[in-house]
Amino acid sequence: MWSFSHIKVLYKPFVAEFSTCCKLQAMKAAGRHLPKVYITRRIPPDGLNILKQSGSCQIEQWDSDDPVPRSELLKKVSGVQGLYCLLTEKIDKEVLDAAGPSLKVVSTMSVGYDHLSLEELKQRGIRVGFTPDVLTEAVAELTVALLLATSRRLIEAVDEAKNGGWGTWKPLWMCGSGLTGSTFGILGLGRIGEAIAKRLKPFGVKKFLYNDIAPRDELASRISAEFVSLEELAKQSDFITVCCALTPETQEICNKHLFSRMKKNAIFVNTSRGAVVNQEDLYHALVNGQIAGAGLDVTVPEPLPTDHPLFKLKNCVILPHIASATVETRNAMSALAANNLLAGLRGDAMPKEVPL
Ligand SMILES: NC(=O)c1ccc[n+]([C@@H]2O[C@H](COP(=O)([O-])OP(=O)(O)OC[C@H]3O[C@@H](n4cnc5c(N)ncnc54)[C@H](O)[C@@H]3O)[C@@H](O)[C@H]2O)c1
Repeated sequence: MWSFSHIKVLYKPFVAEFSTCCKLQAMKAAGRHLPKVYITRRIPPDGLNILKQSGSCQIEQWDSDDPVPRSELLKKVSGVQGLYCLLTEKIDKEVLDAAGPSLKVVSTMSVGYDHLSLEELKQRGIRVGFTPDVLTEAVAELTVALLLATSRRLIEAVDEAKNGGWGTWKPLWMCGSGLTGSTFGILGLGRIGEAIAKRLKPFGVKKFLYNDIAPRDELASRISAEFVSLEELAKQSDFITVCCALTPETQEICNKHLFSRMKKNAIFVNTSRGAVVNQEDLYHALVNGQIAGAGLDVTVPEPLPTDHPLFKLKNCVILPHIASATVETRNAMSALAANNLLAGLRGDAMPKEVPL
């Protein structure tokens, strides 16, 4: 005689399968109403997995390592609720008009947000996520590498060694300038500026100076940095690194006026954004010996054309915008941008939101 408990055991697998099937049907049905998200590039796996596993959005993506063409972007953003973008996409009135009123959140996989029209976003009540902190260490590390490559003339020296320029050991050949006992200037003392200073202290830098919109006493006290005017920063520093955000005020803030006030043996490094530098003025400063060398991770335009005059200078080291390029960092950036996007879609506080 079959008891109820026998029947329960016998039918358990079928009941479980039926219930899973119902759940999937329900999820599929719900999927039709899930918010639409457009991702403008192939992104590191951590970020994509977070979005996919959340099961809370319909994802469409420009599945390429190259930027989405503008016309495609304008087509694809129509009707989306979330936009996951990179620093290569200019998110302006045209894109926001093309997206329409459905757009709730823009999440950029970058700490800089000069490519976003913040005023337009604010007017439309669209929230913005970005990726500070997770890239600070990688960018600071690369800045130190670029600084040393420039000040100790590493690229030039490698070329000489490879191309037959390496004769006998010569006391005055390939000499650069050392960090020990130097005065180091930071233009824009934020997260990255502080992380650079922390790394350079053990190199024996004697004095850190900085210029910013206003003194940042608490942060500056952690690295014993002194607030000075831009003029003083230029005059006193043996090395200057630019770490400020690109804004209308910092656009071409590094120009002939600044370079003409710098020391002749000074090294200039920029890992912030290319547009903070007037490149023509920098070229002349390097050619005329107003400063000793420049290391750039960022330029205008990007990529910098291979026949650009700056590439011809031995005292200019140019990298292709790789400051945050470690596998761990790029994954962390993609994950943070994904979590910002999801929080924005839910209407929750974002892990990192740009205050508008
Ligand atoms: N090369 C790369 O791959 C890469 C990677 C990450 C960040 N970045 C750039 O680095 C910048 C800094 O990043 P962060 O995380 O340190 O940002 P942050 O906001 O902590 O620091 C930026 C600093 O710039 C200062 N600043 C703004 N306007 C200024 C002005 N007119 N004069 C002087 N200082 C001014 C701010 O007050 C702030 O202290 C980003 O905005 C981004 O553009 C580049």
